[in-house]
Amino acid sequence: MKLLHMDSSALGGNSISRQLTAAVVETWHKALPDLVVDYRDLDSEPVPHLTGASLAGTNEAEKADAERTLQQFLEADVLVIGAPMYNFTVPSTLKAWIDRIAVAGRTFRYTENGPEGLAGGKRVIVVSTRGGLHTGAPTDFQEPYLRQIFAFLGINDVEFVRAEGVAYSPQHRSDAIDQALAALPQPAAALAA
Ligand SMILES: Cc1cc2nc3c(=O)[nH]c(=O)nc-3n(C[C@H](O)[C@H](O)[C@H](O)COP(=O)(O)O)c2cc1C
Repeated sequence: MKLLHMDSSALGGNSISRQLTAAVVETWHKALPDLVVDYRDLDSEPVPHLTGASLAGTNEAEKADAERTLQQFLEADVLVIGAPMYNFTVPSTLKAWIDRIAVAGRTFRYTENGPEGLAGGKRVIVVSTRGGLHTGAPTDFQEPYLRQIFAFLGINDVEFVRAEGVAYSPQHRSDAIDQALAALPQPAAALAA
């Protein structure tokens, strides 16, 4: 089984999502010693923004790189994604990655009955961190957006690990981290067997 671990926080060692994605992956690794883990840091090694030249496919190096990014996604059975809220949505580095994995004919297609996701069968764990409180509020363009993107690609098994309101006070921050750590998603028993 392959797990793709990704971070997108720009806050390095102060990042809560980095701490929590590492904790999720550690939990999974302990339960599944044969798990193959691939890691991608979208902050230190960002995926280039999609441009007209990317769509035209004129730059061979960029084309090969985009194919590697897509393959890495397709090969993963489980994705653990660090997704802080930046300006009410995901960091642009994460959005740039999404633009490379949402590829017509590879991960979705349109049919006479509407869109069809082609990348089903994966489990996605999103670590969502926010300075404020947004769950269920109209200010949340991060979690519903991610749910929509993965559903569009055929992935409906999407869980969120949340640390919210972390900017309210140091106490809020440490409580939010502790609560998230106490309820990390585990591999299903069937997978661990
Ligand atoms: C550039 C930037 C934009 C942010 N925008 C928001 C925002 O729109 N809403 C919010 O609640 N928190 C916002 N925050 C706070 C972060 O969501 C919070 O610090 C979170 O912990 C970041 O994740 P990290 O600790 O993994 O880096 C922002 C932080 C940064 C650095």
